[in-house]
Amino acid sequence: MQYHYHKHDVIIVGAGGAGLMAALYAGKEVDTAVISKLYPTRSHTGAAQGGVGAALANLEEDHWEWHAYDTIKGADFIGDQDAIEFMCKDAPDVVYELEHMGLPFDRTPDGKISQRRFGGHTNNETKQAVMRACNSADRTGHMILQTLYQQCIKHNVNFYDEYQMLDLIMVDGEARGVVAYEIDTGELHVFHAKAVMLATGGWGPVWNITSNAHTLTGDGPALVLRHGLPLEDMEFFQFHPTGLFKLGILITEAVRGEGGVLINGKGERFMPKYAPTVKELASRDVVSRAIYMEVMAGNGVDGKDYVYLDVTPETVNHYFEVDDSRLPNGEIRKIDDHFVKTKLEDISDFCRTYVGVDPTKEPIPVQPTAHYAMGGIPTDIDTHALANEKGDLVPGLYAAGECGCISVHGGNRLGTNSLLDLVVFGRRGGKVMAQDVKKMEFKPIDAEAAVAKVRAELDAILNNTGTESHADIKQEMKNIMTKDVSVFRVEEGMAEAVQKLRELRERYKHIHIDDKGKRFNTNLLEAWQVGNLLDLALVTAESALARKESRGAHARDDYPERDDENWMKHTMVYLDADGKVTLKYKPVTVTKYQPVKRVY
Ligand code: FUM
Repeated sequence: MQYHYHKHDVIIVGAGGAGLMAALYAGKEVDTAVISKLYPTRSHTGAAQGGVGAALANLEEDHWEWHAYDTIKGADFIGDQDAIEFMCKDAPDVVYELEHMGLPFDRTPDGKISQRRFGGHTNNETKQAVMRACNSADRTGHMILQTLYQQCIKHNVNFYDEYQMLDLIMVDGEARGVVAYEIDTGELHVFHAKAVMLATGGWGPVWNITSNAHTLTGDGPALVLRHGLPLEDMEFFQFHPTGLFKLGILITEAVRGEGGVLINGKGERFMPKYAPTVKELASRDVVSRAIYMEVMAGNGVDGKDYVYLDVTPETVNHYFEVDDSRLPNGEIRKIDDHFVKTKLEDISDFCRTYVGVDPTKEPIPVQPTAHYAMGGIPTDIDTHALANEKGDLVPGLYAAGECGCISVHGGNRLGTNSLLDLVVFGRRGGKVMAQDVKKMEFKPIDAEAAVAKVRAELDAILNNTGTESHADIKQEMKNIMTKDVSVFRVEEGMAEAVQKLRELRERYKHIHIDDKGKRFNTNLLEAWQVGNLLDLALVTAESALARKESRGAHARDDYPERDDENWMKHTMVYLDADGKVTLKYKPVTVTKYQPVKRVY
């Protein structure tokens, strides 16, 4: 069996914000390598727009404790409060570290890092929106990614670009490496390591309308499931309220943070009905649900399933007057075309390019878009992966970023807390791995056997004489999940979704691909990735079907209330080789905030 062999103390799979931050910190101390199926700066962190949350109080009073409480409340009280407190307390330090690395943040007039309002971030006393999102125009994620990549290069982190991970090497319940496919050559590589961190991002392409890149196929979590390990809270998947109509491309919440309003097909601003205090700046689950309610009531634009996001200066300035919205110096806020073009430059460009709309002159057509996985690979606060609901660790395995679940986002993530999670827990995970591996020797692996297993899986796809198309199966999965496991959910629909997903998994065994070649065989890799998405769709639907309440992004018509007595617990889902799903539960960590009814 032909393969290439590499040995590094730490292997990190994924080169987004979490992977690069972890690589930087591990790489300063031990031999570290990053494997990415993309060129690193094409990772999806680069698509994050509006800002990274930190209570710097550069423009108005703010405290990390307010940030923590907003995050716990936004999570609908199912986030682990110890991890949330750690993240929000660490936030200012990590943001200043990024600034010192050279990240070009926007500036206040007196030269500090600029901050803007974002959904669910409030002054805990007045309940009004607070400026907490540190931003670099509307391309904050892009700037973080570039900055961290440059730092990794400076610190001699090794990169294996355009390598697709195809398996974890697990021996006696320990992670000891990874098998990857070199996309350019089709050759297999064994990466032997003392520590493996998964930082592979999300799986939005499970749904039809998504802000996620095509490349986000949940590879890390799917492999974890396949090795008999659990995933946590898979039923909680966030729909960002403002994706570009039909395309799903993210239109940053910063549009609303800077004053943009949501208008229905009757020309009415509807958010005051649903969130009288913060209106458009309620948490995302609340805003997405409000849009859905408007559409269901026949108030979509032209009777369709979208509404308008209006950031034209004329409309925004009108509502600033109506809301008596003031700057910290007491003046009524006011924006102009130049403000929109410079503070929201990228989305102005997207709107012009993709829907022919100039946002300074016309409203933007938007609809909720599958955006972010709150669940994922369960970890402790040090990013060690968990083997079960009792909290046992998987030696050698770590996870960070969107593919991990610490859980700092609970049932619903606040905007800006994703970039924060990446850099806070990427940094912490990198440090922890460096410490851990210094105390360890390399343990033996059977590289031949690991490669043979992967080769057999690839051959099973390449040589399959079936007639099914993985692209058709993927599209059917998206239709099923969009219809029955998205913003609104009911028993019957979800049960049907589970049944249909099981049928798709059967059909997937008979897929046929045309490209049998070795170089850049994206047909083969996409076929493999569809298998990952199907597994994640199934455990999402099963976890959602079982949770008989509404909480955060998991909103059920048949159980419309939150049920703290029975459901204040995390789901742990397992999937065996025959497709059997087992659900277990573990308690939520509460430090000092008992659940209360959320009001925005
Ligand atoms: O709306 C946005 O800019 C997205 C930010 C986030 O998901 O944190």
